[in-house]
Amino acid sequence: MNPTREAVSALRNARSVAVLTGSGVSAESGVPTFRDAQTGLWENYDPMDLATPEAFARNPELVWEWYEWRRKLIGEAKPNPAHEALSELEKRVPDFTLITQNVDGLHREAGSENVLELHGNIHRTVCSKERTTIEPENFIEGTPPKCPNCGAFLRPDVVWFGETLPVGVMEAASEAARNCEIFISAGTSSVVYPAASLPYEAMESGSLVIEINPDDTPLTAVADIVLRGSAGEILPALSSSGE
Ligand code: OAD
Repeated sequence: MNPTREAVSALRNARSVAVLTGSGVSAESGVPTFRDAQTGLWENYDPMDLATPEAFARNPELVWEWYEWRRKLIGEAKPNPAHEALSELEKRVPDFTLITQNVDGLHREAGSENVLELHGNIHRTVCSKERTTIEPENFIEGTPPKCPNCGAFLRPDVVWFGETLPVGVMEAASEAARNCEIFISAGTSSVVYPAASLPYEAMESGSLVIEINPDDTPLTAVADIVLRGSAGEILPALSSSGE
């Protein structure tokens, strides 16, 4: 059977599905993936050097400005057919969990409800010291702005390399991975842990693992079904299959 038909047929009767998404799912909305070359002003910077607590300590202005640039790009982006297909799939499958590494909020904007944001959300800002959420109207202006309560720099509420994930979120993602019949990994390079461990947890519990990506990743060799191509084309083909 061709792999798309195989996936469609498996999904048709599935009662529990977990999906892990990465920045490839937002690529067709115009949000650059993490490992893509940066453009314009940022072409000489490697995101891996900017998304760390050390970078923020060394040069908070640079890191804040990079996030401002990303926030602006994301603010202009709209959900694409991949996001919409996942929101449709959630309506069809009784037990559905969407686990995302993306910080852009586009899954919720597309209507997805049961979403676990492993790496936080770029639209929220927190105090770098107290970790409390601060609304923009309360920022003490500056680059970066400062906390109105303690004067520390504010930062985006995202997980940086070397930081731990928000409490409880990874645990909930692991539980969904271990309990699903089908696990879909879409648009992620499958190299950033602990997120990258989720398809293996699913596999060990007997789930069928489907990968959607135009390129090879470390997961490709072990996935049960590999669908080559863009998430914006493949996910709508899968999600409309039950109608
Ligand atoms: P990456 O930039 O590492 O990988 C994007 C993946 O999407 C690659 O495997 C591409 O082949 C694939 N891709 C590109 N276009 C696609 C499309 N149209 N449809 C489907 N797939 C496509 O992004 P992530 O895997 O999300 O973490 O990166 C994981 C984490 O590393 C990010 O959350 C971020 C990052 O550094 C933190 O900031 C902690």
